[in-house]
Amino acid sequence: MRATTIARLLVLSYIFMGAAVSAVYGDAGSNPTLAPGEAPPLPHAGPLANPRPQNQVGFPAALTASVIPPASPLTPAAIALGQKLFFDSRLSGDGTVACATCHDPARAFTDGRPVSVGIYGRVGQRNAPTVLNALYNKTQFWDGRVNTLEQQAALPITNPFEMGSATIAEAVSRISNDSEYQSLFMQAFGRSINEHDMLRAIATYERTLASFDSPFDHFIAGTVDAISDSAKRGWELFNTKARCHLCHALTDHRRDVTVFTDNDFHNIGIGILRHRVGPLAQQAERELAQGHLAVIDVAAIESELSVLGRFLITKRQNDIASFKTPDLRNVLVTGPYFHDGSMQTLWDVVDHYNKGDGLNDPWLDEKMQPLALTEPQLDDVVAFLVSLTSPQYKDLADQEYARQRSLSNGSRPQRNTARAFGPKPIQPKASPF
Ligand code: HEC
Ligand code: HEC
Repeated sequence: MRATTIARLLVLSYIFMGAAVSAVYGDAGSNPTLAPGEAPPLPHAGPLANPRPQNQVGFPAALTASVIPPASPLTPAAIALGQKLFFDSRLSGDGTVACATCHDPARAFTDGRPVSVGIYGRVGQRNAPTVLNALYNKTQFWDGRVNTLEQQAALPITNPFEMGSATIAEAVSRISNDSEYQSLFMQAFGRSINEHDMLRAIATYERTLASFDSPFDHFIAGTVDAISDSAKRGWELFNTKARCHLCHALTDHRRDVTVFTDNDFHNIGIGILRHRVGPLAQQAERELAQGHLAVIDVAAIESELSVLGRFLITKRQNDIASFKTPDLRNVLVTGPYFHDGSMQTLWDVVDHYNKGDGLNDPWLDEKMQPLALTEPQLDDVVAFLVSLTSPQYKDLADQEYARQRSLSNGSRPQRNTARAFGPKPIQPKASPF
């Protein structure tokens, strides 16, 4: 890895950090504003941190078995070790930040912020996705820059804006004298503390966080009145006029009732127009030419290059500002929405799709178009999304529903009814750069 490249990216990131520090640490719900230079508080591992049972209605037994690597079975010892590590701030450079800081079980393993805040209060570029059901993702991160949960866990530990350890080895050394860890590692893997098993244990714990049993699952299992009539209409619209299934499903033809993602990447017109994409893409081609993962990780979390999405990995024009289609389970309680946390409510999200946003975005996915959904139909699609909430989050969901409803009654910043009912705009051609 070329040190100069990293140095340049770091310089770049500090320039952006300067801008971010003065920004409001946006606030989806009740997140306290942080003092400058301070990491968010470390959440407690309450009952919501515990592994989820396999007897949930809707639990996909065969799919789950297929994504557990045979070399890393879900043994109680490995799970317990991983759960402890997930909450341990000693893995961070100054002992203040753990995985759970940004993936709080009480908030469905997210942080409720538009973009995450890490060590020394450093503000990143991306919204924290939930870890619930991440075991089913074919790739991890919004741009899919790694494939496995083990590879994923290594990156935040050393990212200077997240946990800021100098190396994984340094993080390991900070726990290696702890006798409880010594015996947990021995029980889990039959050998002493090491990097490989540490990442493996974290990933193993994450593979127990399967979240189903929602009203929607009960409906699919045959309890006809488990969801409202509005949610039922929303589910129909999702698969027809609203065109959501074109991306939030494994195939275009079969209804996906499990993970709601095609595991693919699309440009759906989020945020890109605020940025000068051409020069950024050229910059990315120069700086990330070698494709080193750590450099891409720094660019994605800390610099404006982040908006280029999947392009950072593939350098293909078609991938400019493309991001991974996320799973939609528990979506009511995992806001704010999209890779940059730029939308506050599910009504904003459906307004965005309804107008086929991305006018003037030459890389917009061709599946995007105005949908001509009426107001009651938009409410129906939201009702369906709400029905994907697992029972542990029912109270949080009720609160969040009321909050989003009242925000959206006050203003609908993404609504554009004329465009929603108008023709599909002619898409500009991408100019070569
Ligand atoms: C400072 C906040 C922060 C910390 C600390 C943090 N994460 Fe994340 N996490 C994020 C953000 C932001 C993303 C999305 C980044 C991106 O896509 O570029 C993410 C992405 C992920 C994903 C990918 C999920 C998906 O759907 O693609 C997983 C899994 C994950 N984190 C687990 C962890 C684990 C395990 C740790 C601890 C080793 C950790 N995170 C520490 C903020 C954080
Ligand atoms: C062309 C593919 C495509 C279509 C069609 C599509 N989505 Fe998405 N969806 C995505 C992608 C990609 C993202 C992430 C984009 C980003 O963050 O930049 C996303 C994000 C979302 C999110 C935000 C989730 C989160 O965790 O932040 C919601 C909610 C959502 N979509 C719901 C819907 C609904 C409802 C419809 C139908 C009205 C729909 N989507 C149609 C691809 C699509």
